[in-house]
Amino acid sequence: MQKEIDINKVVRQHLEMEQYFCGFAVKGSPKTSSNEEKGSMNIAEKQKELDKILQEVRVCRQCDLVSTRNKVVAGEGNPNARIMFIGEAPGADEDAQGRPFVGRAGQLLDNIIAACGLKRSDVFIANILKCRPPENRDPRAEEIICCLPFLQRQIEIIQPEIIVALGAHAAKTLLNSTEAIGQLRGRFREYIAGIGKSPIKLMATYHPAYLLRNYSQENRRRVWEDMKKVLTELNLPVPQTDTKK
Ligand code: URA
Repeated sequence: MQKEIDINKVVRQHLEMEQYFCGFAVKGSPKTSSNEEKGSMNIAEKQKELDKILQEVRVCRQCDLVSTRNKVVAGEGNPNARIMFIGEAPGADEDAQGRPFVGRAGQLLDNIIAACGLKRSDVFIANILKCRPPENRDPRAEEIICCLPFLQRQIEIIQPEIIVALGAHAAKTLLNSTEAIGQLRGRFREYIAGIGKSPIKLMATYHPAYLLRNYSQENRRRVWEDMKKVLTELNLPVPQTDTKK
């Protein structure tokens, strides 16, 4: 418990420093001169920028995870996605395949996306960390600090209308918050992209892996309530779903 509080504190202080001094234009950001330029990137240009990030992630040696990872998991999906799902870190299946959310939690995420009337190819899926922590341990502050700039650049390129933060690590990191996931979920928050940039609406919800471990009707209903708010906010139809199953 103590360890978790310390990690949150270190990451929060780091993010506050960055926001204060230079927004989120952190090391290695693409040299586009303004947000408007990024907003007007066509899909091919966005894909090219995302591919550049993938190449950088592949050769990244900034933290110790380089010595235990098999494949990096940069993220995948529609470069023009309106919704970006952000999880914690790759697990064993993701590390083996180099793709996000392909294990059991991924199957549940696929079901959630399908229940929303969407396809995986409609959205973009990424994680806070691009490499698997050994034994799926929690991400460490120094790993988050090294890895977050990649995700921040992905968000800046894709410019999703809504970020869905899956679980406590993603929600706390992206919101720079110490609140518990149970408090953070359920209403829209703001992801602060940097000084002079428009905030992005963020809905935190339970991580699919948590949902698998705590597969109660109440938890499924909560996740579905969160997703219904996302769909409504995007003016998308809300399919009828039976969360009792
Ligand atoms: N859990 C995550 O947070 N991300 C993945 O990609 C897979 C499992």
